[in-house]
Amino acid sequence: MEYFRPNIRSLDGYTPGEQPQQGKFIKLNTNENAYAPPDSVLQAIRGVDGVRLSRYPDPDATAFRAAAATVLGVESDCILCGNGSDDLLTILVRAFAGEGDTVRYSYPGYILYPTLCDIQGCLGEPVRYEKNWSMNDSFSANANHLRLAVLANPNSPSGTVLGADQILKFADTLPCPLVVDEAYVDFADEHCLALVRERPNLIVTRSMSKSHALAGLRFGYLVANPTLVERLSRVKDSYNCDTLSIVGATAAILDQRWSTENREKIKSTRSRMHQALSEMGFAIPHSQANFLWCTRSDKRTRDIYEKLKLERILVRYMEYPEWGDGLRITVGTDPQVDALLEILPSML
Ligand SMILES: Cc1ncc(COP(=O)(O)O)c(C=O)c1O
Repeated sequence: MEYFRPNIRSLDGYTPGEQPQQGKFIKLNTNENAYAPPDSVLQAIRGVDGVRLSRYPDPDATAFRAAAATVLGVESDCILCGNGSDDLLTILVRAFAGEGDTVRYSYPGYILYPTLCDIQGCLGEPVRYEKNWSMNDSFSANANHLRLAVLANPNSPSGTVLGADQILKFADTLPCPLVVDEAYVDFADEHCLALVRERPNLIVTRSMSKSHALAGLRFGYLVANPTLVERLSRVKDSYNCDTLSIVGATAAILDQRWSTENREKIKSTRSRMHQALSEMGFAIPHSQANFLWCTRSDKRTRDIYEKLKLERILVRYMEYPEWGDGLRITVGTDPQVDALLEILPSML
């Protein structure tokens, strides 16, 4: 153990949601898309010539960047690709924060942010949401050694959103880059992509795992000022995206018809689920993501999680120190959600 750096010795590590490899579960615990990706993606992957697998992949994921640039209306040199958006978050912390530096993040938020700080040996500074999931100006207050600020929008676990005007204000006030993690943004009403053009310190990260149903493929991208992108590309692994993921993600981002239909379906199931769970006594903030954050005044959420698991329904029990606990439940297919809603009353 003494071989390790002190911060690695004391590292708790990131705890991913359960991924059972055997048995049949209704899986509502890690915010994957409830549906399989479209045939266009599978066909594109099947069409990859074997010779291409014997060669290294394109280090710049040029095909994806060109396709995404057209779909998103940005220049391709504003885009950097990663092995999931987690890879991009790692690159960002590595690039901006060293030992003795501070990375600020919103809390409760994505639990990977503190782990990345621990690995890097920099200080993580959580800034708490208000109880109604709004964020006050302390998030953008200046501080010595502050090198990076990160927030997820929509946030996890709450699914709530801060408005673009507030994000812009944060970017203007912060003395460092601001990362807006938009992993769930396709299920929301607005996004911050247009702001990247206006603010050189704003970086938006996106995931193909959620709205494009490609969590198993591992692909994400960020959009930022080209000067930042060029520097960040020096920090990434040279071949951080493999050939199959580049091909699959390119086909996925081009299949806008599938994405639009899928998003609308999930949003409609989300409304139905929100209403039914509220009627069962769960308190749920307004979610603009593909999951709901469900708490109860009787505090019995861990018990409910365990009972659901025995019935082979997996949801995510989350406990945030000095904040509270709850269940984060992914919006599944209609039959999956029906099964959950049918069994829950017997557990309350
Ligand atoms: C807020 C947030 N950001 C990023 C990610 C990572 O997504 P990816 O699968 O693209 O690495 C997740 C995954 O659950 C997430 O919840």
